[in-house]
Amino acid sequence: MSNALKEYLTFCQNRVEKALDARLPRENILPQRLHEAMRYSTLDGGKRMRPMLAYCTGKALGLEADVLDGPACAVEFIHVYSLIHDDLPAMDNDDLRRGKATSHIAFDEATAILAGDALQALAFETLAHDSTMQASAEQRLQMITTLTKASGSQGMVGGQAIDLASVGKTISLPELENMHIHKTGALIRASVNMAALSKADIDPQVATKLDHYAKCIGLSFQVKDDILDEESDTATLGKTQGKDQDNDKPTYPALLGLAGAKEKAQELHEQAIASLSDFGSEAGLLRDLSLYIIQRDH
Ligand code: IPE
Ligand code: IPE
Ligand code: MG
Ligand code: MG
Ligand code: MG
Repeated sequence: MSNALKEYLTFCQNRVEKALDARLPRENILPQRLHEAMRYSTLDGGKRMRPMLAYCTGKALGLEADVLDGPACAVEFIHVYSLIHDDLPAMDNDDLRRGKATSHIAFDEATAILAGDALQALAFETLAHDSTMQASAEQRLQMITTLTKASGSQGMVGGQAIDLASVGKTISLPELENMHIHKTGALIRASVNMAALSKADIDPQVATKLDHYAKCIGLSFQVKDDILDEESDTATLGKTQGKDQDNDKPTYPALLGLAGAKEKAQELHEQAIASLSDFGSEAGLLRDLSLYIIQRDH
């Protein structure tokens, strides 16, 4: 990872940790156990790639980090909700996430389901009301539309439905790509697009280039996630390695082999970089982030 990226990642991780904490209901507020579960899964863990993408997109557009805390938290709330539900026995049935017990193990299934539900609601409350965003009502509405579409049946949830319906089946490469673009790509794309929407007078052509960048890294992110599930280890990942094979999931390494999957990730990284050709050094962090996504070890 470049030094510039390392430094900015640490800055953003600290920043978003505080911002998430401030927006989550306290543990001593009723219903306490639910609030405890929401805080347990959201705080103190995760790479915070989606918030990072929002802040780095802001950098490329000359925006202050202050106005991006709202969108950064909103997408992370949706992401955490998706992880809590993804780990449930009815879905991937995982007991380890971010190096600790999954929500339904640490609490119970009903609480895990409700914590996910409540985090989803909190994401949209944040976009609608957060006073730090300095966004107009029209901008907020566009961000809410972006995140609802990215989260719903034609976004992340739709991708998860395809994922579960594909268990034990051999699917084609275009079908696998479609699944990954939805289950993971959609929220990553929304992270970039919500940051772009934070700039009131954004040039639509600039927004299109950023969207294309986000589409490429959204897919490369899940290709790499599949690769790591196969070749990393549980301690490094903070989640159980080898679960895709155990659960008979279609993945890039399963379809293309590890070398083929790595080639695909590299191609997507190159396409992402090409999408930023009109930008100068202000997009340096976005370029570094694309490389990090395919080189990361967890
Ligand atoms: C894991 O996402 C689930 C996918 C969508 C691939 P991350 O790898 O971003 O998980 P955290 O947030 O760092 O825990
Ligand atoms: C998860 O994909 C995608 C979402 C949570 C929406 P995976 O099931 O591959 O994620 P991990 O590997 O459990 O983090
Ligand atoms: Mg899954
Ligand atoms: Mg999973
Ligand atoms: Mg995975």
